[in-house]
Amino acid sequence: MAQTLHDIPKNDPVAVPEQKAKIDRILAENKNLPGAVMVVLNELQAQIGFVSPAMQAYVAQQMHVPLQQVHGVVSFYSFFTTMPRGKHTVKFCMGTACYVGGMPQLIEKAKQVMNCDIGKTTADGMATLEVCRCVGACSQAPVIVIDEELHGRVRPNKLPQILKKAQQ
Ligand code: FES
Repeated sequence: MAQTLHDIPKNDPVAVPEQKAKIDRILAENKNLPGAVMVVLNELQAQIGFVSPAMQAYVAQQMHVPLQQVHGVVSFYSFFTTMPRGKHTVKFCMGTACYVGGMPQLIEKAKQVMNCDIGKTTADGMATLEVCRCVGACSQAPVIVIDEELHGRVRPNKLPQILKKAQQ
């Protein structure tokens, strides 16, 4: 992570006054508690929705702890995200049945349709694409889950229609 406080993106919460005020409030309220780094990061994730590299750098500076320590906590726990998530989440099951059932090809096609990579969010902020483990619906492989809705036996020609749900 190369982010420092000298190259903060314009739309980063640290650079947006209302969000910066929220971050400062979270820091002020929690930084003297036991396990403060974890508490502060948790509150940031809950209230801002993610903990960007610039936010991590700011927390480290304000709490006088090494950036590596903050970064270590954020990377260790999977509930922390470092960028905003899309309005929708599209999960591609990569369990064995779905993999064998053609998921790699579906993923390639979905990346083209959404113009987005796995692990990323579309430029319009509508959808985050992810792979996941078996969701327990192997008899319907290959399976795609959009938000909480499961789509089974997905065929490549049906994919654009299904993905529409994650585009609005
Ligand atoms: S492998 Fe995809 S649902 Fe089980």
